[in-house]
Amino acid sequence: MSQEELTNALIAAGPSAKVASLFDFMRAHGGKHYEEEVTQMEHALQTAYLAGTEQSDPLPVTAALLHDLGHFLADSLGRPINPTKVDDLHENLAADFLQAFFPAEVTEPIRLHVVAKRYLCTVDSGYYESLSAASRKSFHLQGGPMNEEEKAAFEQHPFYAPALRLRIWDDKAKEVGKDIPELAQYASVVAAALLP
Ligand SMILES: [Fe+2]
Repeated sequence: MSQEELTNALIAAGPSAKVASLFDFMRAHGGKHYEEEVTQMEHALQTAYLAGTEQSDPLPVTAALLHDLGHFLADSLGRPINPTKVDDLHENLAADFLQAFFPAEVTEPIRLHVVAKRYLCTVDSGYYESLSAASRKSFHLQGGPMNEEEKAAFEQHPFYAPALRLRIWDDKAKEVGKDIPELAQYASVVAAALLP
């Protein structure tokens, strides 16, 4: 399924058909690793699982599940993904695509999840050390440590706290062979997060 086909399917459909199309798209484009040990699908499911252990609200869980949709979209466009070599701006690709269908509580933490990594690494050098090798490399491409102005601006952002929470789940969601719920289990959660 291409990005254009996905857009058309999402525009025309009711909530459950929208979710089915989104999940079909994720299954079609979630098999790649992008320099991590887990696949993009495993990573998405683990991020959502961790979100669900802390939050019952469907919005942060949906943001967690879809936070790297930009990689899936880039794959559907045939773009090679080398996150340790090129800053692909996947956070904006996902947020820009999703904002027609989901509220800001879903799209803006996604848009900020790379900035949130820069923030966490800036305020805590131990955080940087805890990242996967690929994530440490991409951190430098994505701008590296924040200066005081960038830090202060991020702390004032209305989605600062949910973006940090998402980022922490994201960075933990790279465990090989973890036994967790499959994508279909999130259908009602994602349907509940859709814009009316
Ligand atoms: Fe991620």
